[in-house]
Amino acid sequence: MSIRTSAKAGLSRLTALIEAGGPEIAVVRNELQFADLTGKAVTERFGSPLYLYSERILRRRCQEVANFLSYRPFVANYSCKANTNVALLKIAHSEGLHADAMSPGEIMLLREAGFATNQIFYVGNNVDDAELLYAITAGVTISVDSLAQLERLGRLNPGGKVAVRINPGIGDGHHQKVVTGGADSKFGVYYTQVDEIKRIANQYLLQIVGLNQHIGSNFLNGETYLASVERMLEIALKFDDLDFIDFGGGFGIPYTSEQSRLDITSLGDQVSEMLERWVTQYGKRITAQIEPGRYVVAECGVLLITVHALKETPERIFIGTDGGFNVLVRPTMYDAYHEIVNTRLAQSPPEIEAYITGNICESGDLLAQRRPMPKPKEQDVLAVLDAGAYGFSMSSNYNARLRPAEVLLTLNNELQLIRERDTLEDLLRHQIY
Ligand SMILES: Cc1ncc(COP(=O)(O)O)c(C=O)c1O
Repeated sequence: MSIRTSAKAGLSRLTALIEAGGPEIAVVRNELQFADLTGKAVTERFGSPLYLYSERILRRRCQEVANFLSYRPFVANYSCKANTNVALLKIAHSEGLHADAMSPGEIMLLREAGFATNQIFYVGNNVDDAELLYAITAGVTISVDSLAQLERLGRLNPGGKVAVRINPGIGDGHHQKVVTGGADSKFGVYYTQVDEIKRIANQYLLQIVGLNQHIGSNFLNGETYLASVERMLEIALKFDDLDFIDFGGGFGIPYTSEQSRLDITSLGDQVSEMLERWVTQYGKRITAQIEPGRYVVAECGVLLITVHALKETPERIFIGTDGGFNVLVRPTMYDAYHEIVNTRLAQSPPEIEAYITGNICESGDLLAQRRPMPKPKEQDVLAVLDAGAYGFSMSSNYNARLRPAEVLLTLNNELQLIRERDTLEDLLRHQIY
């Protein structure tokens, strides 16, 4: 089994953004512009820091995942944990995607965006009765991910339908913290425990209608994913009357120019072939599902931040910005790399190696380390690329900072506010004193 990667390795992420972004994103006289406005003009209008999303790129990625398999029936769920902005959810819905949810909050947001209950797949982890009852009452398909949770669901909803998340014993991902399969992972029922699954299902007359898996996040080589699909298909043969198998998400995107793009067409073709062979063995054509999050929204998002202070020590040059880890935690949490472009000097050659930091009271508040870049000035606006997934959705009010506004760059070349920036009053909401 092999996966081709695209020939475009080496493309800078800025070039990739401009190519995919259409006429709405351009470099004009060395300035990176959105809807014909400089980065500075955009932040003057909506505030800084600011998340900005390209509708064009989002729709394109939705279409790619919607066509992942030629095998039918096929459903592509958008894993909304990556970004739950309702305006973006509506776009994913309009492109025909269904969705997976991790919590009642995500179910509620998806419904608000127009997803029907039969388009929502709830994949909980270590949840209480109240959460399960919320999902049962909402009428969404429920997946449980341990034997204990299967029993709990059986007690709450005997005779009901359920899917079981399987840990196929195989994991992958860009960082140990996002590997979600294998013997070290907290997720799923280990694949060797099929007999226990059946025993509990029989006890509570539960009908096992689906199996699902998710082996980890942001892989760029599909080999491990294919191995996990193969394992899932073997396990599925042990269940008599499944309606669907969900093979999870995790499809990576190239965050650096050195990384090659995952060829999801080639990956999908191989999964389709495996499925076509498998259905003849199983004797029933069941629905295949996937649930990517990052692949759908990462590349459409840019985080705009502003430079407020430059500083040198004998060891380091610091660029101090308002892009703290309360706004984008991925570099601090996963040592993640994001290409960062000074919007005023978009294609200027590097002059310094800088540490780009935020305004949070922790030394680990670093967006980038030893990053080659042109010399910035105070008030320059930097664009942190590929920030659409696990950006705003993982943001916080740490240090009582305000979470940023979000803006959609529409196909009509307009900037549309899709979330207001927090206010100081928001920080008092729910406090009792
Ligand atoms: C169960 C499940 N499905 C889907 C996803 C989406 O992963 P990704 O954004 O890497 O595609 C995750 C991410 O953690 C997950 O836990």
